[in-house]
Amino acid sequence: MEAYDYSETVAYLLDWYEQNARILPWREDPKPYYVWISEIMLQQTRVETVKTYFERFIKEFPTLRDLADAPEDKLLKMWEGLGYYNRAKNLQKTAQLVFEVFDGELPSDHNRLRALPGIGTYTARAISSIAFQNPVAAIDGNVLRVMKRAAGSYDNVMKEKVRRELEEELTRIIPKDRPGDFNQAVMELGALVCLPNGRPLCESCPLMHLCKAFHQGIQMKLPVKDEKKPRKIEERTIYILEYNKRFALHKRPEKGLLAGMWELPGAEGRGTIRDVKNWIRDQQDKDSSDKVIFNIEDFGVYRHVFTHIEWHMTGYYVTLAKPVGDFIYVDADEIEKKYAVPSAFAPFMQRIMETRLQNPTEDQR
Ligand code: ADE
Repeated sequence: MEAYDYSETVAYLLDWYEQNARILPWREDPKPYYVWISEIMLQQTRVETVKTYFERFIKEFPTLRDLADAPEDKLLKMWEGLGYYNRAKNLQKTAQLVFEVFDGELPSDHNRLRALPGIGTYTARAISSIAFQNPVAAIDGNVLRVMKRAAGSYDNVMKEKVRRELEEELTRIIPKDRPGDFNQAVMELGALVCLPNGRPLCESCPLMHLCKAFHQGIQMKLPVKDEKKPRKIEERTIYILEYNKRFALHKRPEKGLLAGMWELPGAEGRGTIRDVKNWIRDQQDKDSSDKVIFNIEDFGVYRHVFTHIEWHMTGYYVTLAKPVGDFIYVDADEIEKKYAVPSAFAPFMQRIMETRLQNPTEDQR
């Protein structure tokens, strides 16, 4: 196939970006610390959602030093809802390393950045170009989609070789005076105009006249990706255990999915009422024959989608006469303030938070 001349896109992209770039806190003041935090948050979440998280995070941890010194519980609490909690832990490891190795300043070189925990090739190049104006192209999913459509290319964008070749080609033509703007212009076009899943807004695109996919009418077919493997489905039973307006929480193991996060107690499989009773009995002291269940309410079935796994959760709201199990029992206010609970449990947590409205305590009345 005839090579595509990416250099022709530069001026159109920069012009478009000037007119259309969203105003974002880390763009208003692109200091390395801000760019880094925003890029890590943006790996998993849409720009609109990240804005609020970013501002909250920076208020709590205004500098790299504050992040390096933060108690882990507080850090995870600030990350609650963003998911992929290892990213928050890696942020802190990197902040600490930067003080140990680089005198408290993030390095500007993408190879050095790349060596820090949680910073991959894309992120290293995004930080280096946006915060330090180094002329290196940063290739994420948006950039691959925009550029492979422009080039009318059927290359499989999941292949590392394809990503690396585009990285090299764009690094050759990236404008030396505005590398950060160029990278962000392509990402922004991907986010706002050259939309995925076959619905690009070609009439609003500054590259329409240069876009081979548009001219050939194949923009819906590009970019080419591997077929997705179906996610593994895990059936789980989730318990809201209430004792005296306090709720049982359990800390997940320090390794694996949602490592070290707080969760509602649960068991594998789709439990029936009989299973619930048995499970509660198993949580009681061996020699206890006390009746501990006041009430069991079927709380319905909820689904949560992770990257490779789906949880199908059958919920039960169990009111207890006595606490059971190896759990901590915490009231709703305290949970909200201190404990980071993954979004997978959102419908259950919402119910817990609603108990405050139904049963105001003395000082809320
Ligand atoms: N996605 C990730 N980083 C981005 C940025 N700086 N601008 C637009 N979209 C992005």
